[in-house]
Amino acid sequence: MEIVILRDAADVAEYVADCIERLVTARPDAVLGLATGSSPLGVYASLARRHRDAGLSFAQVRAFQLDEYIGLPPDHPESYRSFVARHFSDVVDIDPANVHVPDGCAADVTAACAAYEALMREAGGVDLQLLGIGADGHLGFNEPTSSLASRTRVKTLTEQTLLDNARFFGSIDEVPRHVVTQGIGTILEARHLVLIATGVAKAEPVARAVEGPLAAICPASALQLHPHATVVVDEAAASKLTLADYYRATFANKPSWQHS
Ligand code: F6R
Repeated sequence: MEIVILRDAADVAEYVADCIERLVTARPDAVLGLATGSSPLGVYASLARRHRDAGLSFAQVRAFQLDEYIGLPPDHPESYRSFVARHFSDVVDIDPANVHVPDGCAADVTAACAAYEALMREAGGVDLQLLGIGADGHLGFNEPTSSLASRTRVKTLTEQTLLDNARFFGSIDEVPRHVVTQGIGTILEARHLVLIATGVAKAEPVARAVEGPLAAICPASALQLHPHATVVVDEAAASKLTLADYYRATFANKPSWQHS
């Protein structure tokens, strides 16, 4: 696992946008895994700027979102489909038909989850998966004690996540309790995982994910199993990492031939 510690959220966003720009330039039909929430907002804003000002194109890119609320219609402003449309797909030139979202309104959600996994396989799998981390260590909406081998399925949000996400809704009572999320096993099949965390509230979950034991109680610790995982954090989110100086020295001395 590579831990990249940068000064602030703006530097984190530019660093991750650089990774995506390199990928999409080398492989215009790359498959991106998209996260929602506050953490990737700066990355989406930077990609939109690069599209507008420098012609970075996503015309052939395919994308799969991590998760979706159950029961929110796709055009609800807080559905994750609407979120990604607002911040990414409507402001770059990606074909909206190529942005896939787990179906939280399907009559048969289990069948829809299996179909989603099949679609990801048909696309050749995800090249770069953007991730955030929950205060409780969740990855996607895989809450603590999610199986590390799980696939796309229905999950129930914890009180902590309902509280955290209430800021996007009028009140905690309006946050749907149930979600569809790619499983941890699904996420681990992406070729490159890039987890973004900024702010002091993320310091504890980041430390547990990176330096704690591999355990389902902290789903993000599953990154330890992945051969190409990059954790990009600002100083505040890195503040509880025991080996922070080692990560800084490693990054500062990174050989130029090593990929990002
Ligand atoms: C979003 C997602 C969640 C968030 C996490 C952090 O698609 O799957 O795991 O990444 O809840 O949310 P923020 O970034 O809002 O702190």
